[in-house]
Amino acid sequence: MTWTSTIFRTKAINADHPLGDTGLSRVLGPLDLTLLGIGAIIGAGIFVLTGVAAATQAGPAIVLSYMVAGTACAFAALAYAELAAAIGGCGSAYGYCYAGLGELVAWIIGWDLILEYGVAVSAVAIGWSGYANNALEAVGLGLPAVWLHGPAEGGLVNLPAAAIVLTLALLLGVGIRESVRVNGVMVLIKLLAIGVFLAVAVGRVDPANWVPFMPFGWNGVMGGAALIFFAYIGFDAVSTAAEEARHPQRDLPIGILVSLAVCTLIYILVAAVLTGVVPYPSLNVGSPVADVMLRLGHSWAAGLVAAGAIAGLTTVMLVLYYGLSRIVLAMSRDGLLPPVFARVNRRTQTPLRVILIVGLAMAAVAGLTPIGEVAELVNIGTLAAFFLVCVGVIVLRVTQPDLPRPFRTPWSPLVPLLGAASCLYLALSLPWVTWLRFGLWLAAGLAIYVYYSRHHSALAAQHS
Ligand code: ALA
Repeated sequence: MTWTSTIFRTKAINADHPLGDTGLSRVLGPLDLTLLGIGAIIGAGIFVLTGVAAATQAGPAIVLSYMVAGTACAFAALAYAELAAAIGGCGSAYGYCYAGLGELVAWIIGWDLILEYGVAVSAVAIGWSGYANNALEAVGLGLPAVWLHGPAEGGLVNLPAAAIVLTLALLLGVGIRESVRVNGVMVLIKLLAIGVFLAVAVGRVDPANWVPFMPFGWNGVMGGAALIFFAYIGFDAVSTAAEEARHPQRDLPIGILVSLAVCTLIYILVAAVLTGVVPYPSLNVGSPVADVMLRLGHSWAAGLVAAGAIAGLTTVMLVLYYGLSRIVLAMSRDGLLPPVFARVNRRTQTPLRVILIVGLAMAAVAGLTPIGEVAELVNIGTLAAFFLVCVGVIVLRVTQPDLPRPFRTPWSPLVPLLGAASCLYLALSLPWVTWLRFGLWLAAGLAIYVYYSRHHSALAAQHS
């Protein structure tokens, strides 16, 4: 077999029985999927990054940054909706690339998704630890500093960060029903917190705070968009529920598109109100939304917002961890990762081994390393996945014109082309050091592919 036929071999669509039994439990409906999407999307981005991005990058035009990043995500979400409904499989972008672009690209994007979701969960766990300790301090139970930082920052271990990841591992291991129930409750808490913030703050908006609107010019708007793009990440994780949705072909597009639309509206409102209530330079704080409530004299609302932020960060971790476990399962079933990850537990109907092994790894990273410092890797990793899914729509329309497509991206190839171009543009707005780190991760992935995955691929076994 030549190397080109190896790296370009594609997997037959529907090979994972999109409506058949894969051992996972098919229980999710359209509301569950939409709540999973909102669970994954609203979190650190809106509660933390908006303030920093407004103060240092975009000014009040952070609203435009949210519109720009939201538009790029809308293009990508339409592409995800098409491929999730047509191809399915719990591997998400990895699976779509395997069907359309060949094994090497699929492996690279699968490896990239492991980075994206793994770093996101570990980094958000560190943010969660800070918020949780604030809450503990409020009742006089704050932890000593050595239990709040890893060795690199002079502590022993970030205990709350490691503990929350392990707690989520237990929840995800127990079952998908229990996980979506907890997710639903927490999503309601965070939506309530945001609703209260908007209701309390909207009457205190002073339009003078929106002037000057673009103090850092268009470059600032784009820099802000590249930063707050993080806030939108997560709707893609809905597509990893393809094998647990009751009617994936109808409901995955609903879950992906509705969750993104709801969150985009919320983000634009929060960004406009936040910058309208106080001068933008004063938003450069760790918890801008709660801070503004305090400054307006509503300490009860500040407490509710803090609870909403804790709930938000929890659901982000829960859903991204869920997505990660399903992607690793898909890659392992295809032989590209070791078979130890390919087993679904009969009783819990969850990939218990994957959940526990990746959970231990992420707990160690969150507890012992300053992973938050490389959190922007999540943005570049996600942009790469979105880019390839948009390209995948265009390629598959040509190579598989007769594939049944329960949902079709409108105005293809224009919309997926705009999606690919805007993701590339946002990625180019990220710092070069992020590109360097991303390149190193991909180079490590390439080495694993060359020495392990291509030999163990299930397709290689079929061909020989
Ligand atoms: N979108 C998620 C957040 O903002 C990752 O936390």
